[in-house]
Amino acid sequence: MSDAAPATGAATATATSAVEPFDTVDLIRVKRSGGALSTAQIGWLIDAYTRGYVADEQMSALAMAIFLNGMERREIRDLTLAMVASGETMSFEGLGKTTVDKHSTGGVGDKITLPLAPLVASFGVAVPQLSGRGLGHTGGTLDKLESIAGWEADIPVDRMRGILRDVGAVVCAAGSGLAPADGKLYALRDITGTVECIPLIASSIMSKKIAEGTAALVLDVKFGSGAFIQDRAQSKLLAQTMVDLGRDAGLSMAALLTDMNVPLGLTIGNALEVRESLEVLQGGGPADVRELTLALAREMLALAGQPDADVAAALDDGRAYATWRRMVTAQSGDPDAPLPVARETHVVTAESSGYVVRQDALPFGIGAWRLGAGRARKQDAVVASAGIELHAKPGDRVTAGQPLFTLHADDAARFARALESVEGAWSIGSEAPTPTPIVVERIS
Ligand code: URA
Repeated sequence: MSDAAPATGAATATATSAVEPFDTVDLIRVKRSGGALSTAQIGWLIDAYTRGYVADEQMSALAMAIFLNGMERREIRDLTLAMVASGETMSFEGLGKTTVDKHSTGGVGDKITLPLAPLVASFGVAVPQLSGRGLGHTGGTLDKLESIAGWEADIPVDRMRGILRDVGAVVCAAGSGLAPADGKLYALRDITGTVECIPLIASSIMSKKIAEGTAALVLDVKFGSGAFIQDRAQSKLLAQTMVDLGRDAGLSMAALLTDMNVPLGLTIGNALEVRESLEVLQGGGPADVRELTLALAREMLALAGQPDADVAAALDDGRAYATWRRMVTAQSGDPDAPLPVARETHVVTAESSGYVVRQDALPFGIGAWRLGAGRARKQDAVVASAGIELHAKPGDRVTAGQPLFTLHADDAARFARALESVEGAWSIGSEAPTPTPIVVERIS
């Protein structure tokens, strides 16, 4: 069988004229029957998909076969490197600083990049943080920072290098030139039910990180109701797969497995999360946000050759906050501008006295999204001031009538649907729950 006649809509004039070394249908059959593709087959497949020779229908079938039958470690590495090779790569060599990046698999109230990047940079390390915008119930770092007046997410590479040299930390949008095959494949997975697949997630995330050119990477892989993957064992497998992929590509790697059953911190929503990050940067803030920020900073600095760095002191004595101000200013933001505040609020109170025993991350994430903090489609705008502010967390004692959380929105009409989503998402009991750690395991 030959691929000489490409599937509908797949071919370009140049693509049809080339002699292709493999037949796409044969490759689909290999994965359908549980076999492994060779390095050459995977390299060709990704290249042919990027240039439009392999059709979306064919790639969908392959993604589903991979979803159902998995991939060997060697295949995952080949897939990752083929996606890196599909576009441009960056390099931070010549900066005179070690580069260390952090990637989180995302969760509800996850604002850790905001205090973490300037904290680590305050130790003389370069933190190039290429981030994304939020989709669905998990927020995006760029959306959060865009609540700061004037702040710019799109920073050309030369300017990025300058900021890394002068300030040490830059948080900006990843250009579409990095791993374009992943961009195409991820959009396809999104509409074909093939997102939650460890080989595909690991290769997708790591192709972008390898293309970005960081020397070291710390992963925050979350599990629990507000995480991308709920099951702890599966999250651990994802973490180990990504650590192996990074090491194979020459990066220094570490990963933390962290609990995302409860929202992180006391705020969910863009400007609210910036406000909370500022508290952490000034030595305060909720204990879980501070703890995770410090844990990830220690890992990043250890990979950068500073295992004994006193990261808590840098939050408490203003060094990290000073770097934050310089980082925001370098990206045209005004660190002194007031953050947007919602026009309307709605307070939900405790129906009885006792301890908060449960607070389920996912419904609160959906609630914040329905208030305007997130987007349903890529092209939607987010409302910077919208979100949910929690006044109590699991383990806290509350009395009947005490505020439990406040909804923030620009339009009071949004409250009803947000309240629907958080219905039954918390409970109050007579016994304090056993405290659970935020970092449950380290994978290296
Ligand atoms: N984030 C990515 O970049 N890719 C995935 O596959 C999942 C999450």
